[in-house]
Amino acid sequence: MRILVTGGAGFIGSNLCDGFVARGHEVAVFDNLSTGFREFVNPAARFYASDLTDAGAVDRCVAEFRPEVREPPRRPDRRAVLGRGSDPGRADATSSARSRCSRAAGVTACAR
Ligand SMILES: NC(=O)c1ccc[n+]([C@@H]2O[C@H](COP(=O)([O-])OP(=O)(O)OC[C@H]3O[C@@H](n4cnc5c(N)ncnc54)[C@H](O)[C@@H]3O)[C@@H](O)[C@H]2O)c1
Repeated sequence: MRILVTGGAGFIGSNLCDGFVARGHEVAVFDNLSTGFREFVNPAARFYASDLTDAGAVDRCVAEFRPEVREPPRRPDRRAVLGRGSDPGRADATSSARSRCSRAAGVTACAR
């Protein structure tokens, strides 16, 4: 599968990418390197250095890489998915970017 991992230069995301690559998946990482590191990105993965709040960058990434999976498992409190914090504006922007990705790829549901 073609799998896009947002935050794939971070601790959890980079380990996730390593696992996907080891299982033969095609992987791309979308990360603004705010807390992640370029050297954490698996060498076999494509790297998009952009911010999830940049809708144009998300659209370009989706159009080029055409990922098949990108929705994380849903949690009762979406702030937990976003990690630190409780900034509602940022949560909305990230959630909106995720929705744009899903619509662009025709995702109507995600596995839990
Ligand atoms: N060696 C270790 O044990 C170790 C190392 C690092 C982190 N941790 C811990 O692991 C836990 C989880 O780490 P994590 O992977 O969730 O955090 P993380 O900060 O490592 O990863 C989040 C990733 O998302 C990226 N990101 C954030 N906002 C973005 C945006 N708007 N657009 C694009 N990319 C964006 C960051 O650059 C980063 O690469 C934390 O509690 C952390 O303290 C442990």
